Amino acid sequence: MAVLVSGTGTLLQSMIDSFSAPSSLSTAPEPGSAPAVEIVVVGSDVADCGGLQRASAAGIPTFALPLAPFAERGTPARRAWDTQLADQVESHGVDLVVLAGFMKLFDEPFLDRFEGRIINSHPSLLPSFPGQHAPRDALAYGVKISGASVFAVDGGIDTGKLLAQVAVDVFETDTVETLHERIKVAERAMLVDTVAHLARQRTGP
Ligand code: GRF
Repeated sequence: MAVLVSGTGTLLQSMIDSFSAPSSLSTAPEPGSAPAVEIVVVGSDVADCGGLQRASAAGIPTFALPLAPFAERGTPARRAWDTQLADQVESHGVDLVVLAGFMKLFDEPFLDRFEGRIINSHPSLLPSFPGQHAPRDALAYGVKISGASVFAVDGGIDTGKLLAQVAVDVFETDTVETLHERIKVAERAMLVDTVAHLARQRTGP
């Protein structure tokens, strides 16, 4: 699979830590062990972000493709960026694209190329609190339970078929940072479990 990141990459790190190293893929997995999942490339719209550094440290190929600030969705510049991104990912021959804190929306060139093969993780119980500031918005609303969702990406903002969700408590004393970190602890485990589940579906029980 390919993983796309924009930030610190702790979700990515949990997948690096959980799945088989490339060198172990040729050996038969132990019964009951996690299926062999190989992260073949990590890409980002943010050059030198923490996620890319984590991938490099794990020996995973990386690329960065910054997006010009004026390249709004629907513009030729944005479509060109989408196409370049799709080309980079496709050149690694991936079955699945995992968005792990990737903070850009796709246009048709990328969505069409990987239709049905892109999943995203989001720090709220969708359909509540879509968008870039989910923990802040959940806290401002005053919800007592929040969480994280993994979903199949379509053309909307955090829409798409839900694949998994996990709930976490919200405390009176929470800040955006403490709530987001509590969500991310649960989110990391859920994302790893979801990818493993998808891999099992491909390879049989
Ligand atoms: C996650 O909560 C993800 O859902 C959101 O950004 C966070 C990424 O965290 N979009 P990290 O960069 O993996 O630490």
